[in-house]
Amino acid sequence: MGVNVKDILAWCRRHIILVTVLTLVAVAGFTYVNLQVLHMTSEPAFCQLCHPAKGFGALAEVDSWEHSGHAEAGVSCLDCHGRPGVVGYAKAKLGGLRDLYMQLTITPEEKLQILENPGDYLVPSEHCMFCHTDEGNAEYRKKHKYSMQLVEMRMLDSVKNPEFRERKGLPDIMTDTFVGGIHFDHNFHIESFEMECNSCHFGIIHRDTSKSDRMNMCLDCHSENVDSSAPQLADCQSCHQAQYDLNLGKGAKGVAGDESLMWAADVQCDSCHVGADDGQYRPSAESCASCHDEDYVGIFNDWASDTKSQMEELNLIRSEIERQLKEADKRKRTTTEAWTLYEKAIYNYRLVRNDGTFGVHNNEYAKEILDSVALDFREIRKGLNEAW
Ligand code: HEC
Ligand code: HEC
Ligand code: HEC
Ligand code: HEC
Ligand code: HEC
Ligand code: HEC
Ligand code: HEC
Ligand code: HEC
Repeated sequence: MGVNVKDILAWCRRHIILVTVLTLVAVAGFTYVNLQVLHMTSEPAFCQLCHPAKGFGALAEVDSWEHSGHAEAGVSCLDCHGRPGVVGYAKAKLGGLRDLYMQLTITPEEKLQILENPGDYLVPSEHCMFCHTDEGNAEYRKKHKYSMQLVEMRMLDSVKNPEFRERKGLPDIMTDTFVGGIHFDHNFHIESFEMECNSCHFGIIHRDTSKSDRMNMCLDCHSENVDSSAPQLADCQSCHQAQYDLNLGKGAKGVAGDESLMWAADVQCDSCHVGADDGQYRPSAESCASCHDEDYVGIFNDWASDTKSQMEELNLIRSEIERQLKEADKRKRTTTEAWTLYEKAIYNYRLVRNDGTFGVHNNEYAKEILDSVALDFREIRKGLNEAW
């Protein structure tokens, strides 16, 4: 009766090969009898047992994921850390066994060393393109035709573009040039300079990076250079399409608007963004007081907080509607029109979100757009609730 956990662990360490083989056999057995175990050991909560820290960086991979746009959209660990298809899934599960083996055999310092130096191979660009482009998705599916049909274990296995992308309101990054609020040609930059996704998206998911870092990365090439035809720092709107659209009161589908009061009075990007030349790209509420009196700081705060709470509310409704629409699809109801309306609403919602100022650039227009999104959502819900 006197067996304790320490002894067992010590025994495991001494017979590590045997233990690993037994575990392998056990897992192989489980594959047949209990898929539930596979699901359970793919959950972020399981990963968190050994990746438990808060914040960003090594050991905090679960927490950083939890606060990402990907998590919000339901993209989980093995959707990125496991290639598409049945072979990719099996390899990811074997990788999990390797993690377990390593957890028992290496020191915490060695573990940290590995986590702080992730290799480029972890999530190759080809994998990101499976979800974010139509061609990348089609090519991968063609290459792995049979193995793709066998599994439905993760979101990844059901990703078929353009449908997946469009329903999430995402562009095809290799053909669209209006992405995430920025006017930017992925295809041109990736092909011309042989860049990988993480050359620019270096903060994706697990690292903390600021938008200023991102802009400075562009300015490495796009800084004052009279010989270049590339946009220069002062040409704010050649990159910042969403912010330009908001200032001008255009860009949303089916919602006409007016220029912001200040844009109409010839207040330009650099009238407010006075620090841009010194690398201080973002102005604060205080900047309002450089032209108006101090009270206008309060107006800024009102604008931002009203719009922010409306967006949070809409985002909750959005996930609920997406779930209901998928449910309706499963029950073979006609949802084509509802999805089209949903995509339009998401497009408009994302325009305001991508502007990034919660309506400070043009409060009236931002409000009109969000009201139209709310209306579209109500329309979709009404349709869904009607008996068919
Ligand atoms: C039993 C503890 C444990 C669990 C549970 C665990 N990991 Fe790990 N993980 C480790 C250790 C230890 C390492 C470092 C050594 C290594 O590379 O295996 C690691 C490394 C990694 C790496 C980096 C591999 C590399 O080559 O740099 C990834 C990615 C990863 N884990 C993802 C996951 C995911 C996803 C889950 C949940 C499905 C998970 N881990 C669950 C212990 C664990
Ligand atoms: C959208 C894709 C994506 C998702 C989802 C994702 N990761 Fe990662 N992960 C990456 C990329 C890319 C890297 C490569 C290194 C980097 O850029 O930080 C990485 C690196 C890692 C590493 C190596 C160590 C490190 O800190 O870089 C671990 C461990 C890891 N991820 C665990 C997880 C776990 C656990 C989850 C789920 C809770 C998860 N990842 C979800 C893309 C993703
Ligand atoms: C399983 C499919 C899937 C994979 C794999 C995937 N993504 Fe995404 N990605 C999404 C979805 C869905 C969203 C939408 C999130 C939202 O609605 O804000 C998204 C959003 C994004 C965004 C914009 C929002 C943000 O968080 O910054 C970027 C950039 C991005 N992905 C890059 C990548 C990169 C780089 C990789 C590879 C390391 C990758 N994605 C892998 C599905 C995926
Ligand atoms: C030269 C820099 C650069 C490279 C390389 C790059 N991107 Fe981007 N990407 C951007 C910029 C800039 C944006 C717009 C701002 C933002 O969303 O952060 C963007 C936006 C995105 C978005 C968000 C689209 C939206 O409308 O929300 C996705 C998804 C994305 N990129 C995926 C990828 C993938 C996948 C790769 C690799 C195949 C990649 N990117 C390579 C610079 C780059
Ligand atoms: C390695 C250098 C390099 C980097 C890094 C780079 N660019 Fe470029 N970019 C160029 C060059 C060169 C051109 C000029 C193309 C031409 O001659 O028309 C260009 C053209 C452009 C254009 C105008 C072309 C068009 O589509 O209308 C935009 C907008 C742009 N880049 C945005 C960005 C953004 C945003 C980033 C950062 C995420 C970035 N670039 C990073 C080199 C770079
Ligand atoms: C070559 C393209 C390009 C030009 C030109 C450009 N930007 Fe940016 N800027 C970017 C990108 C890319 C980002 C990162 C956006 C993201 O990640 O969503 C950014 C980020 C920003 C941010 C957010 C900074 C932060 O720390 O949060 C501000 C503010 C900004 N830009 C203002 C300006 C202003 C003002 C101008 C004109 C003086 C300008 N930008 C010119 C590409 C550009
Ligand atoms: C009336 C003053 C004003 C004008 C005009 C203005 N901005 Fe801004 N902008 C701001 C303020 C204030 C913020 C910071 C908002 C915040 O932090 O919530 C901001 C934030 C931004 C950001 C950061 C958004 C993010 O994603 O975090 C970008 C980019 C930007 N502005 C670009 C532009 C461009 C491009 C123009 C011209 C087309 C412009 N702005 C015109 C006041 C202005
Ligand atoms: C470069 C100077 C400048 C800056 C900085 C500036 N404004 Fe203005 N603002 C103006 C001008 C010029 C008008 C038009 C005056 C008119 O039509 O009466 C205006 C008009 C307005 C109006 C409508 C008319 C009124 O006086 O009530 C509001 C509200 C306003 N601004 C708020 C703000 C806020 C909030 C900020 C900070 C984000 C800000 N402004 C930053 C110059 C500026």
